[in-house]
Amino acid sequence: MSFALIIGASGDIGGACAKRLAAQGWSLYLHYDQHEAPVTALVAELTTAYPKQDFLKVQYDLTDEMHLDQLTDQLFSVDAVIFAAGMTYYHLFQETTVPELTTLMQVHLLTPMVLLTKLQAKLSVSGHGRIIFIGSVYGGSGSAMEVAYSTVKGAQSAFVRAYAKEVASLGITVNVVAPGAVATKMNKMFDAPALAAVQAEIPAGRFAAPADISYYVASLCSQEAAYLTGQTLYVTGGWLR
Ligand SMILES: NC(=O)c1ccc[n+]([C@@H]2O[C@H](COP(=O)([O-])OP(=O)(O)OC[C@H]3O[C@@H](n4cnc5c(N)ncnc54)[C@H](OP(=O)(O)O)[C@@H]3O)[C@@H](O)[C@H]2O)c1
Repeated sequence: MSFALIIGASGDIGGACAKRLAAQGWSLYLHYDQHEAPVTALVAELTTAYPKQDFLKVQYDLTDEMHLDQLTDQLFSVDAVIFAAGMTYYHLFQETTVPELTTLMQVHLLTPMVLLTKLQAKLSVSGHGRIIFIGSVYGGSGSAMEVAYSTVKGAQSAFVRAYAKEVASLGITVNVVAPGAVATKMNKMFDAPALAAVQAEIPAGRFAAPADISYYVASLCSQEAAYLTGQTLYVTGGWLR
């Protein structure tokens, strides 16, 4: 049985990835930080739907890159890792604080990178390990008011380009799925007129649903998706890229 670790399974995109991967036969480690309830509900739903698969909760705060053994000690085999955790700050760059920069770098980049140093051996066992970051179109295009966020999202793409080369011979693929605007609680900070203004710019005429993103994540996790690595796949409805 194949196991995927979904970091940020309590979030909207992470939860959609969990549902899609479970339907394809994966057992899952479902990570959360502050919000256990969505993951508890996922475990109940998925256990009922797929009783022969395992669904296990794991908690960790990604602003702590020093104690990851507390997380990895709970994992047995790991065949795929999906990094779907994240947050942003919305203001001018000159107002950005060092704690904000530190948090962005830890959550999106530093702690995932440290975690991968600890999981590479497990990911190489099957001969078809899969690593996917949920990046952002802003990592490619850049965005005013989210300069630091755009920076760490672009760095995720730089990381997968390099790391993919190092682990290709182990059968591990490493990619970014980079959404445009997705209808999730991450965008709750914006009022209706602001959301409508963004929607008007999207050629597809709507925000993505989380399932629009999880479709590509699950596709890249399949054994057949063995020859695409080091790439950033922009899933934007034609917006910005
Ligand atoms: N929504 C969009 O428009 C959009 C567009 C492009 C890219 N993205 C990216 O997509 C990913 C998922 O976002 P989403 O829209 O699904 O957001 P969401 O529903 O708000 O979920 C955010 C997830 O990140 C986790 N998280 C936040 N801070 C954490 C920390 N310090 N330690 C561990 N986990 C932490 C949350 O865990 P808890 O809730 O349990 O604390 C939750 O699982 C992010 O990387 C985001 O940058 C989103």
